[in-house]
Amino acid sequence: MGTPHNEAPQGAFAKTVLMPGDPLRAKFIAQTFLQGAKLVNDVRGIQGWTGTYQGVPVSVMASGMGMPSIGIYSHELFHTYDVDNIIRVGSAGAISPKLELRDVILAQGACTDSNYAHQYGLPGTFAPIADFTLLETAVAVARRMGVEPPVGNVLSSDVFYNQAGNTLDWGRMGVLAIEMETAALYCNAAEAGKRALTICTVSDSLVTGEELPPAARQTTFTGMMEIALGVAVQMAGRRA
Ligand code: HPA
Repeated sequence: MGTPHNEAPQGAFAKTVLMPGDPLRAKFIAQTFLQGAKLVNDVRGIQGWTGTYQGVPVSVMASGMGMPSIGIYSHELFHTYDVDNIIRVGSAGAISPKLELRDVILAQGACTDSNYAHQYGLPGTFAPIADFTLLETAVAVARRMGVEPPVGNVLSSDVFYNQAGNTLDWGRMGVLAIEMETAALYCNAAEAGKRALTICTVSDSLVTGEELPPAARQTTFTGMMEIALGVAVQMAGRRA
């Protein structure tokens, strides 16, 4: 049946699951963008919903914050629920001075200060990368919307309040932005032989110290969601 963290029955999730960090955001996405959305998980308040978008089954479930949390939920979606595609829809803090608030970025790869990949016992450093099909589909969907999204590395960090104060050093290697989930998501997808992609909206800048005012978040968030849902539709078409 379910798992210790997910009470949904087999078959309750669509092949593509969108994952925001915040459970209330998951509910908002389900109720705003999906038709006939039903709550399929509420263990620990980590809401999971399944409905349809343009006639295509799509699920949305929260990841919680950080790599241990998304590590658990994405593993179970891939392995217990046979989900094929997970698209994280999150926020990130700009490291690159070229990024502006509200920019939507695609995480081609994920650097990390986490030891998550240690579990695989590999004799070197694993490079967590996005699934190329999801990535190129997201770029194509964005271009159709008239947007050329920045594509590159993010930093997936275990630490939000970094006492070392050296996060911007990653900018020397072209890292675009910091968030806290993608490296674990990409590792889990690789291990499961499934697909994952992170799409992030820049909510703050470590370069300038600016933050997106809450009122402005809604419109930017819509752009990110249109890309993610467009990818979900394209992926359903691929299988048909
Ligand atoms: N740090 C880590 N994660 C984040 C940030 C940040 O500044 N902004 C959005 N997610």
